Amino acid sequence: MSFVMAIDQGTTSSRAILFRDDISIAASAQREFPQHFPASGWVEHEPEDIWTSTLATCREAMEKAGAAAADIAAIGITNQRETVVVWDRISGKAIHRAIVWQDRRTAEFCTRLKADGHEPMITEKTGLIVDPYFSGTKVAWLLDNVPGARARAERGELRFGTIDCYLLWRLTGGRVHATDATNASRTLLFNIHTAEWDDDLLRLLGVPRSMLPQVKDSSAHFGDSDYELFGAPIAIRGIAGDQQAATIGQACFTPGMIKSTYGTGCFALLNTGATPVRSHNKLLTTIAYQLGGKRTYALEGSIFVAGSAVQWLRDGLGIIKHASETGPLADKSDPMQSVYLVPAFVGMGAPYWNPRVRGALFGMTRNTGPAELAHAALESVCYQTYDLWAAMRADWSSAGANAATPVLRVDGGMTASDWTMQRLADLLDAPVDRPVIQETTALGAAYLAGLSAGVFPEPAKFADNWRLDHRFRPAMSQATRERKLAGWGRAVKGLLASDE
Ligand code: G3P
Repeated sequence: MSFVMAIDQGTTSSRAILFRDDISIAASAQREFPQHFPASGWVEHEPEDIWTSTLATCREAMEKAGAAAADIAAIGITNQRETVVVWDRISGKAIHRAIVWQDRRTAEFCTRLKADGHEPMITEKTGLIVDPYFSGTKVAWLLDNVPGARARAERGELRFGTIDCYLLWRLTGGRVHATDATNASRTLLFNIHTAEWDDDLLRLLGVPRSMLPQVKDSSAHFGDSDYELFGAPIAIRGIAGDQQAATIGQACFTPGMIKSTYGTGCFALLNTGATPVRSHNKLLTTIAYQLGGKRTYALEGSIFVAGSAVQWLRDGLGIIKHASETGPLADKSDPMQSVYLVPAFVGMGAPYWNPRVRGALFGMTRNTGPAELAHAALESVCYQTYDLWAAMRADWSSAGANAATPVLRVDGGMTASDWTMQRLADLLDAPVDRPVIQETTALGAAYLAGLSAGVFPEPAKFADNWRLDHRFRPAMSQATRERKLAGWGRAVKGLLASDE
């Protein structure tokens, strides 16, 4: 029996999952780690927590499966994207906590870049827009704000990496400084057309080239883990950002296929094939995967708050004890009330892109209580997905393609809620497909590693393995749907107006 181990390093927890060679799950382990919020809109992680929780989950999963290092054909890494670590090349010590993708501290810098007219050039090269979400301005912040950092970086003493790159560095005992094209495509420093770090962008953001990792295919031999970590070296053969890994795990290999993953945030990706499609609706153009030197592109819609809205109900308001209570509670809400939550806790992502606004509730009455808030929180995730879905379909058809496959494949924690998935199908007015294997992010990383190790088959055969658990079919009347979507539109407009 040979296993493939997937490391899924997410925003709130680190996980390891061992897949058997028939793509079934043998064992898994998960550890949460602390979040740090040093100022309003700032979010940080301790790199050492990321590393120790990752290592511990790998060892735990191996123990549960009774697997030794020699039984593991390869490791695949998938990760929270855009989050930035900068560390010393020799000591390996991080110069600061990791700045997390949700962090908004560079909002002003971004406003300046836009005011100075740089956004068109940045978008043209990177497929991204100018927003604090991406890594580039976070690296610049670290170099400008950690004493001595810029001079050290210019002397070639510092390394930059997204989380995959940092974990690879740690797993290989500091021998390998590399990343894959999907993670590189989220940095604001990478030209997605040439697949190279871009000198104009490096100059504009003041990031020395010597800090940057080598960029490889998503399925490749990145290096071997240090002997002492697992008792023998294991080859690291796959890397992809978590949303791209989920796209692979969902077998969205055909142009027009769309998946949406519900974790801390929600990220929808539409496979556009070998050609990058430019969005006219404020979506991102990004690399879905790079195999054999060939890139497949995607349009991406990124929402910053999905599962974290439910966390807010649990930890902030204390109106539920467990996430699974949310659907049943929402079901008890008063049908006469129209309460809308715009969960802009860290600003708004696609397609609005406003890092300054903060969340708001609309339509509350004296009778509004926990059930209505739960209802509004779950629906907010569906409405936000609707915005992405509409933007994607418009972009895809104006790119001259046939209308995107009118089915949404979903995965991630929130998809366990039948209530939410049904409401999603109702509001999209399209079928929503939930697969049997919902660990699609880890599966995608394992697949990339297993493909490189020769354990897993070519994409087309792997796609045959995708199995439907449940199809949610739209059942809402058109009038209700239109009324609800119009209410959401007014709520968003109202919030954005508060920033004008
Ligand atoms: O772009 C951020 C994304 O990669 C984070 O994913 O699953 O931690 O919400 P998640």
